[in-house]
Amino acid sequence: MHTAIVTGGTKGIGYGIAEALLAAGGCVMITGRNAAGVADAVGRLGAGAGKSTRVSGRAVDVRDRAAVDAMVAEAVRQFGSLNTLVNNAGVGLFTAVEQTTDEDWARVIETNLTGVFYCSRAAIPALRQAGGGWMINIASLAGRNYFANASAYCASKAGLVAFSEALMLEVRNDNIRVSVVMPGSVATDFTGPSGKHDDESWKLTPADIAEVVMDLLRHPSRSLPSKVEIRPARTK
Ligand SMILES: NC(=O)c1ccc[n+]([C@@H]2O[C@H](COP(=O)([O-])OP(=O)(O)OC[C@H]3O[C@@H](n4cnc5c(N)ncnc54)[C@H](OP(=O)(O)O)[C@@H]3O)[C@@H](O)[C@H]2O)c1
Repeated sequence: MHTAIVTGGTKGIGYGIAEALLAAGGCVMITGRNAAGVADAVGRLGAGAGKSTRVSGRAVDVRDRAAVDAMVAEAVRQFGSLNTLVNNAGVGLFTAVEQTTDEDWARVIETNLTGVFYCSRAAIPALRQAGGGWMINIASLAGRNYFANASAYCASKAGLVAFSEALMLEVRNDNIRVSVVMPGSVATDFTGPSGKHDDESWKLTPADIAEVVMDLLRHPSRSLPSKVEIRPARTK
C-alpha cells in the first residue's frame, strides 16, 4: 500500500495524483500553502474516496524547511510509514529577465528546486525506514526545451531534472527509486507560457499525469523508468 505525500495536492496535477493514489487504496497527505484550499481539497478527496480517512492535509510551504520536516514526521505518525513522495508543488513565471525581480526569481527557484530538496532530504530517512519507496518529481518539458521569457522557470525545471537524476543514482541501492516526470501543457489553473485558451481540449489533463505516476508505481522492484516525457498528442 502506498503511504504518500503529494506536495501541491490541492488542485491541478497534484490533486489528480492524490485521487489516483486514493483510488488504488493508498493513504495520502496533500499539502499547499493555502489552509482553506487544503481543507477544501481534503474534503473533496475524502468524499470521492467514500468518506475515506486515508486522506489528510497540511498547510505547508515547501520553502519552509522546518514545516517540511514536520510534514514528513506527521505523515509517518498518521500512516505508520512513508514510502512515496510526489514532489509536485511548483509555480510558473513567464516574463523577460529584464522584468524579473529578485523576489520573482527567488520564488520560482525556491519553490521548484529548493523546496524539492527540502522535501526529498526530509523524506529519505522515512523511505529507508519503510524498506524503500519512490520519489516522483514533477518537472516539465521546460526543463529540456527552453524558451524565451521563461528563464527562471526553465532554470528551475532543468535544475530539478539534474537534481532528480543525481539523487536517483545516490539512493537506488537503498531500494529508493527516483523518477522525474516532464509534462508538456496540462489544463490546470497554472498559466503556462501559451496562456489560457478558450479551447483547452488539446491539452493533457491531471488524470493523464496521474496515470503516468501510477504506471511508475506499478513497476516491479527491479525496474526503474527514471525519466518520463509526456506531451499532448497534438498541438492546439
Ligand atoms: N500545468 C502545466 O501545463 C504544467 C506543465 C508541466 C509541468 N507542470 C508542473 O506541474 C506541477 C503542478 O502544476 P499545476 O499545473 O497542477 O499547478 P496548479 O494548478 O497551479 O497547482 C499548484 C499546486 O502547488 C501548490 N503550491 C504552489 N506553491 C507552493 C509552495 N510554495 N508550497 C507548497 N505548495 C505550493 C498550490 O497550492 P497553494 O497555492 O495553496 O500553495 C497547488 O496545490 C508544477 O510543478 C508545475 O511546474 C505543470
